Amino acid sequence: MAQSRTHRIILAQPPGGPEVLTVETRQIPDLQADEILIQSAACGINRPDQIERLGFYPAPAWAQPGLGLEVSGVVVAVGAEVTTFRTGDEVCALVSGGGYSDYVIAKAGAALPKPAGLDLEDSAGLPETVFTVWANVFESGALAPGETFLVHGGTSGIGTTAIQMAKAHGARVIATAGTKDKCSLCRELGADVAINYREQDFETVCQDEGGVDVVLDMVGGLYVQKNINILKQGGRMVSIAFLQGSRCEIDLMRVMLKRLTLTGSTLRARPDSEKARLAEAIRARVWPWIEAGRLKPVIDSRFALGDVRSAHQRLDGGEHSGKILLIP
Ligand SMILES: NC(=O)c1ccc[n+]([C@@H]2O[C@H](COP(=O)([O-])OP(=O)(O)OC[C@H]3O[C@@H](n4cnc5c(N)ncnc54)[C@H](OP(=O)(O)O)[C@@H]3O)[C@@H](O)[C@H]2O)c1
Repeated sequence: MAQSRTHRIILAQPPGGPEVLTVETRQIPDLQADEILIQSAACGINRPDQIERLGFYPAPAWAQPGLGLEVSGVVVAVGAEVTTFRTGDEVCALVSGGGYSDYVIAKAGAALPKPAGLDLEDSAGLPETVFTVWANVFESGALAPGETFLVHGGTSGIGTTAIQMAKAHGARVIATAGTKDKCSLCRELGADVAINYREQDFETVCQDEGGVDVVLDMVGGLYVQKNINILKQGGRMVSIAFLQGSRCEIDLMRVMLKRLTLTGSTLRARPDSEKARLAEAIRARVWPWIEAGRLKPVIDSRFALGDVRSAHQRLDGGEHSGKILLIP
């Protein structure tokens, strides 16, 4: 067992910009019976880490200390009740905290085997986005083959994953992004239509395209009414973030007349049993897409774990496309 070892974790104390991030060396805690210890190959960075660093997204009480929601690597120890993984297995895992580390503790139920054919490092870019897109677009949004799907933030970690998963599922995809180059990337990933929201009104373009069945929204604010306007009869809007604010005024008449569903969710707060259920569904439905080469994480850049401040500066700058990884 590796518990006599130490590992580095990344703390944001007090909250603030990338400069508040510090690397601390701690004893690795003992494993609980349902946990595995992963020697990290890479740790994924997500926008929620920035929000936590700023002090607006506190970790749940049960989370391991430190930033980080996903990791890939090799299992080096397993808890007493774990039967699904053995030491030496290559895995990627969703965690509630402590994911930026050399050694990461994960619930076995929230881990998945590394997909065949994908680099172990790159697999660190999968869990947070794949779990989020599966839970929100495929479960809550019930996207069906042949339907039209709109994703905002098309080149975000979430957006790049959502475009590829929706295409693999047989949907028609419209994506929004803030530059010409980002729109080109959306098309390369399979989007049928890419809208530069700084130059075109996405509501007008989507109306011209005949409307949409499902919207994955991370913008909120003024986008919400526009999303409602372009949804077809029985359409679904799923909110996962509010980059423009969580408050807005909407016309419920359109929700009623078009029998719309407005919903949303967060991933981290879900109980372990729910994450394990999602992991099983993802292994059955999404892993085959990766193994067939139809879905792969888009990796923007890699930084050494000790250079986490530079990695967060890149995140804050907003010029990245896809995932930023930390390499221990
Ligand atoms: N609810 C959940 O469970 C959950 C889980 C994971 C992530 N999230 C949320 O999902 C979002 C994406 O996460 P990520 O890690 O993939 O982020 P990310 O890679 O950092 O991307 C953020 C995206 O937001 C876009 N954006 C920023 N401000 C915008 C604005 N005012 N209008 C339109 N687009 C804007 C940017 O695109 P442009 O440069 O093109 O503007 C960028 O593509 C984040 O807001 C995150 O908090 C939610």
